Amino acid sequence: MAQSFNAAELIADDKKYVWHHLTQHKVYEKSDPIIFVKGEGMRVTDINGKQYLDAVSGGVWTVNLGYGNETLCKAVSDQIKELCYFANGYGNIPTIRFSKKLIEKMPGLSRVYLSNSGSEANEKAFKIVRQISQLKHGGKKYKIIYRNRDYHGTTITTLSACGQEERKMQYGPFTPGFVEFPACSVYRSPYPAGTTNLGEKFALELEKVVQAEDPDTVGAVILEPITAGGGVIVPPDGYFETITEICKKYGLLLIIDEVVCGLGRTGKWFGYQHFNVKPDIVTMAKGVAAGYAPISCTVTTEEVFQDFIADPSDREGYFRDISTFGGCTSGPAAGYANLCYMEEHNVLDNVVKMGEYLLNGLKELEKKYEIIGDVRGKGLFCGLELVKDRATREPVSEAVAGAVVAECMKQGVIIGKTSRSFREFNNTICLAPALITTTVELDEILKALDNAFKVVKA
Ligand SMILES: Cc1ncc(COP(=O)(O)O)c(C=O)c1O
Repeated sequence: MAQSFNAAELIADDKKYVWHHLTQHKVYEKSDPIIFVKGEGMRVTDINGKQYLDAVSGGVWTVNLGYGNETLCKAVSDQIKELCYFANGYGNIPTIRFSKKLIEKMPGLSRVYLSNSGSEANEKAFKIVRQISQLKHGGKKYKIIYRNRDYHGTTITTLSACGQEERKMQYGPFTPGFVEFPACSVYRSPYPAGTTNLGEKFALELEKVVQAEDPDTVGAVILEPITAGGGVIVPPDGYFETITEICKKYGLLLIIDEVVCGLGRTGKWFGYQHFNVKPDIVTMAKGVAAGYAPISCTVTTEEVFQDFIADPSDREGYFRDISTFGGCTSGPAAGYANLCYMEEHNVLDNVVKMGEYLLNGLKELEKKYEIIGDVRGKGLFCGLELVKDRATREPVSEAVAGAVVAECMKQGVIIGKTSRSFREFNNTICLAPALITTTVELDEILKALDNAFKVVKA
């Protein structure tokens, strides 16, 4: 049933009462916020009736099965009528079914801990590392290494592990014990052209930092399998193999943040499964229930889980963590339905095929427009790095990348860009269409970009 509303009144109330994410509200003195009222497949309609094609799955790579998916709607609605909530210290049917099915997709991992945002899932991972340090290493192995350009969340501690300076500015002081190591961008490699074994070289930067910090004090490293909001950076061959060796050598837990890449975005169930790597902890959120309910997971190996098994009289030997909304049943009900839907409709195959189609289309644009310095990606997750000059690779300003986004928006196509991440590197256009996309929508996206690049100059 269509909702009835008074558009002018709602826009005025939005401006008066709502504080939008990542937004300087001064802009609304001269323009109105875009308010969406309806989504169907990959298209959304705003309050004025304008339709848009969504090339970024809900803006932040979340609505992976598109809007109005009947299977997920029904799963959520049926479950909340049956039992909407009970604290996760107790069990419920959707959590059991979802956890079992998720673990089937993650050989080598065995336990699922639920919460409700990517930041929270990563906080849990950090708490696990800190507690293991107390339980097994006298509290000494408490440091966590993160990578430049990676993002792990919005809380003060996940920002402490954030490699994007603009997200951190003005929010310090941060949680102690977090240390950065360099990014692995091949396009912006510090090594001379023609350097071989780039993957290994980038990974060895981790070892340098571990040694400098004193290996006995380092408990874990956290990495996105493909850096997402930091510019869609795919690690070079050999990278994760060397990271794994370093983790083994120094007894570090490897945390893989699959908040963006997880659940099919890159053409495999998880981004790390493209590489030869065995994580100890995997976190995930956005695609888990594809935006139909909030849910996040911190998944661990049995070995990690066993570190928390002790005599019940031991008041410190278990994971003393809780998340109120980790007991909402809508999340795992939608998560289970999402996994079943993806299997039944061979969604991963579609991601691989459509991902190649999109990447090839973007490479054609790269041939036409000098402003495109680099095209990269995996599956339905692609980035275009824009430059003023291909030879020097000088990045375009954030305003230029913003103009490309705005030109696509005028044509009714919503694309994304790195946003408020780095002072000089908010120059990557991001595309992450729903995993059920067809060539029809991809052609429309490519056409909009083609038109945008005809008018936007570096
Ligand atoms: C890689 C990564 N990790 C963690 C997060 C934080 O997730 P949330 O916004 O659900 O807290 C994000 C959000 O964009 C992300 O991209």
